Amino acid sequence: MAFLDFTDHTIIITGAASGIGFGIAEAFARHGASLELIDRNPDALAAAAQQLGATSRITAHTLDLTDAQQVNALAEDLRQRQVSIHALINNAGIEYPTPLNDAASDAEQRWHNLLHNNVGSMYLLTRALAPLIRKSGSVINQSSIWGLSAVADFSAYVTSKHAVIGLTRSLSWELGKHEIRVNAVCPGWVATDAAMRSMRAMAATSGKSEADMIAEILAQQAIPQLLAPADIAGTFLFLASPYALAITGQAIVVSNGEVMH
Ligand code: NAI
Repeated sequence: MAFLDFTDHTIIITGAASGIGFGIAEAFARHGASLELIDRNPDALAAAAQQLGATSRITAHTLDLTDAQQVNALAEDLRQRQVSIHALINNAGIEYPTPLNDAASDAEQRWHNLLHNNVGSMYLLTRALAPLIRKSGSVINQSSIWGLSAVADFSAYVTSKHAVIGLTRSLSWELGKHEIRVNAVCPGWVATDAAMRSMRAMAATSGKSEADMIAEILAQQAIPQLLAPADIAGTFLFLASPYALAITGQAIVVSNGEVMH
């Protein structure tokens, strides 16, 4: 098999309609994979599938991953189509500030919703699809450098990304006996719309300009450049490949050198 050849491999990618998820989908499509793309944004997902359809076999599924019924219906569809999964990529996630001093009446609900969206849904989908993952296949969960470090005002997001690493480690034991690997990826700042919204929220809270905020972020990186989705995608290719068969239960940081552990 050629290095990183995913021909005849089925890869499931959540949150594939935009940002890093779309970058991961592009990378697997370039390497020949068949893709099952999941997102809850139907228009963006249709546009993504159309863009990738020229290079790869794509099936798009519009669903909300926090809804167990929709997740189980997806699993049933894949089972009926006899899909055998090489990699399940749990990338979908949301981020917004949840400061302690948020006096909004729905502040508590928003805190819990973020946890359920970012880690509860990973549990739901992995539980539903585990029986369809082939031996030597893998699960790759999107964490963050904030799964290993922390900032103020984002306690729900930071907690969710720490929890993703805990989920990853626990499931690596549970699925290891079936020779399925489970790893997490921890990206640094990737210039997606979602991350830039968080950057602007942090700048506003601290009274800094956006330019100063970005300069501060870059000063914490050994290589002072913002990342693009393509910079993250290669690690997913590697972890899904036969070259990573002995890697499980790990959290791999991809951050231009921010956070070294
Ligand atoms: P994004 O907002 O561009 O993409 C996330 C996608 O996930 C969206 O298309 C959204 O519709 C989908 N999604 C979210 N919740 C969903 C749900 N419940 N059901 C179905 N689809 C859902 O965000 P971005 O920046 O590409 O982030 C992707 C992942 O990477 C997230 O888990 C994020 O926390 C993580 N991450 C991002 C970093 C960054 O700097 N952009 C840094 C570290 C981690």
